[in-house]
Amino acid sequence: MSTEKSAGDGEPTLKILVLHGPNLNLLGTREPHIYGKTTLEEINNRLLERAHRLAVELEIHQSNHEGDLINVIHKNMFRVDGIIINPGAFTHYSYAIRDALSATGLPIIEVHLSNIYSREDFRKISVIAPITEGQITGLGAFGYELALEGIVEIIKNKKTGDMQC
Ligand code: DQA
Repeated sequence: MSTEKSAGDGEPTLKILVLHGPNLNLLGTREPHIYGKTTLEEINNRLLERAHRLAVELEIHQSNHEGDLINVIHKNMFRVDGIIINPGAFTHYSYAIRDALSATGLPIIEVHLSNIYSREDFRKISVIAPITEGQITGLGAFGYELALEGIVEIIKNKKTGDMQC
């Protein structure tokens, strides 16, 4: 899934990889009291709309398999400018996904629909967070839109050498 729009100012269009981890394909019906009623398709459509407004291009993938997510990271690491990822349960134990993300050298934002710090103890640990620019947790589907706004700002600031973010 992708959308393309020229920034119109001679700058190359920014490309962002959006990754959804295991069980996020079930959003809408999966424990809606925790994850909300918004489906993954609705989240992706909102992201695509916002990407269009920001004149950035998105590459969106969901997988229930650790190796698939790693392969998608490898495939896209020289094609994209940043990564937004909700690693699902891999957040809490996948050193392999952390290493793959870290190897890209790209800015990364981690997103969680639920507030992982207000849930079971095992969810309070993210092995991914230390190699990210930041984490958005507990703001539901809107968290992805904030992540997109944030990563675009971070990438632009890095390009202009502005270190505010
Ligand atoms: C999640 C939180 C994880 O602990 C859980 O395993 C998920 C979803 C979230 O978006 O809140 O699958 O990443």
